Amino acid sequence: MKNIVVFASGNGSNAMNLAAHFNSGSKARVVAVFCNNPEAGIIEKASAVNIPVVLFNRAQMQEPGFLETALDTYSPDIIALAGFLWLFPARLVKQYPNRIVNIHPALLPAYGGKGMFGDHVHKAVLHNKETRHGVTVHLVNEHYDEGRILLQESFDIRPEDNLESVKQRIHELEYRLFPAALEQLL
Ligand code: GRF
Repeated sequence: MKNIVVFASGNGSNAMNLAAHFNSGSKARVVAVFCNNPEAGIIEKASAVNIPVVLFNRAQMQEPGFLETALDTYSPDIIALAGFLWLFPARLVKQYPNRIVNIHPALLPAYGGKGMFGDHVHKAVLHNKETRHGVTVHLVNEHYDEGRILLQESFDIRPEDNLESVKQRIHELEYRLFPAALEQLL
């Protein structure tokens, strides 16, 4: 059984989708959620299904040893960033080579980088009248939204699409693509 540790900063629907996908099987399971936001919805959701939540602040993330020790407890085979909004520490990227995966709600390398998260991405895509949008799952390196792409899938933007419909379509795609990418990596 492989261990997946998920990092999330907000609502956590992708984190919970990973747990729903893996935790009933025998291949891997989400063993902990690491969260940097004490207000995040994921805290209650993960706790409700008995997944331990490790809450940390910026000082703790930057302090060498803090996350290392906390992660050691869960022996992660894969670290999945599911809506984690801070830059993942370079020292941990080194410690877990090719084992940290991020999901990004756009067709990288387009619409990635610092500040390109959540609604900002979708608003920019709609503003620029792009004809296609989609989701990328990629390995994490020291920079925002870079690293080798594992899976990417796109869809046509329809004339009637707006921010809400695009967000919903992206989430539906994410719920399929993220578990598929982790299955591949496992
Ligand atoms: C997702 O769109 C993900 O791609 C991005 O942040 C969003 C998180 O949504 N990195 P949720 O918290 O999983 O609902």
